Amino acid sequence: MEITELTQGFTAQFHATPEQYFFAPGRINLIGEHTDYNGGHVFPCAISLGTYAAVRSNGSASFNFYSANFPADGILRVPLSDLDRPRVHKWVDYAVGMLQVLAQNGATFGQGLDVYIQGDLPDGAGLSSSASLEMLIGEIANDMYGLDVPMLTRVHYGQTVENDYIGVNSGIMDQFAIGMGQANSATLLDTNTMEYERLPLDLGENEILIMNTKKQRQLTDSKYNERRSECDSALAKLQTELDITSLGDLDASKFDEYSYLIGDGTLLKRARHAVLENQRTIRAAAALKSGDLATFGHLVSASGVSLQYDYEVTGLELDTLVHSALQQKGVLGARMIGAGFGGCAIALVDRTQVAAVIAAVGKEYAAVVGHPAEFYRAEIADGPRALGAQA
Ligand code: GLA
Repeated sequence: MEITELTQGFTAQFHATPEQYFFAPGRINLIGEHTDYNGGHVFPCAISLGTYAAVRSNGSASFNFYSANFPADGILRVPLSDLDRPRVHKWVDYAVGMLQVLAQNGATFGQGLDVYIQGDLPDGAGLSSSASLEMLIGEIANDMYGLDVPMLTRVHYGQTVENDYIGVNSGIMDQFAIGMGQANSATLLDTNTMEYERLPLDLGENEILIMNTKKQRQLTDSKYNERRSECDSALAKLQTELDITSLGDLDASKFDEYSYLIGDGTLLKRARHAVLENQRTIRAAAALKSGDLATFGHLVSASGVSLQYDYEVTGLELDTLVHSALQQKGVLGARMIGAGFGGCAIALVDRTQVAAVIAAVGKEYAAVVGHPAEFYRAEIADGPRALGAQA
């Protein structure tokens, strides 16, 4: 996105000149899905698609937000004195939620800001447009008010916004992936200990293709919370005999040995996904480290199989993209990413085959699903940052 586009947009709305520009990325997850609330590992990275802002201090007692992605909402004014208001079920909730949590933790805002937002992340596509907005606002507040809140703290604040303000019981992955993003690297995070390791994302001749179902997400939040509580129930059954605090504490053989305790087919499948996906993620990171891209690709695909059949968070759209991709020449692995039910999948594709894969998968998807998919070539990017002041 061009800075001049942001400047023009800002000026048209606020009749003034912005002082500073900011960006926060979106994220993809290579492997480690639905493990972050099960004490397991995730292996995500930040992408160059994300959310931009042009900002100025407005000398008033209100935050004024405008999003070019939701023009019908116009300018949304939030008085500084009203930051603790309940959510209004609009995009601005993520911004207000972040300011609210910062304020609850001691930040003071002497005057308001005019904030013009424009994102190039497809909305609701499972690339974390909401966490991107939270982390963008965290970066803006940190910079404009000189708050000095460390990035990892802001990552936790973002999760607090989702859990306590928005009401989605999500884990730490999205905010972490965005906040800690680094160009051309992926981060292996143990969500149990919050220890992490950054690994260079060296894919050789391959790249990551993002495939968007363009399916309107429905019921995602309630299904997400349902999966979470199914995992909690399975854990409680295992804890009757085992001294563990999360499903991430189990390896495959220990899980197998004690799986008789679960006593319910659905809970067994959910727990099996959480345990094996964690193990798979650790193995996948090791494979990538040693340059074994074939094994890495197989494990990515195995994650997809588990998400489809054991965790059951896919659907016709995601399954069509993934299965079609896996049949194409030059595809090392493919799977859905994020919460599921819609949104995006990724494929690891030989660079020379990307155009052919897009054409073939796109054709099959449109024929089966009835509307076109969208494809993006992922660039692995840095985390939230100021882009500089007005020249
Ligand atoms: C959503 C949540 C994350 C994570 C993924 C599934 O993106 O926000 O915390 O649980 O789903 O891996």
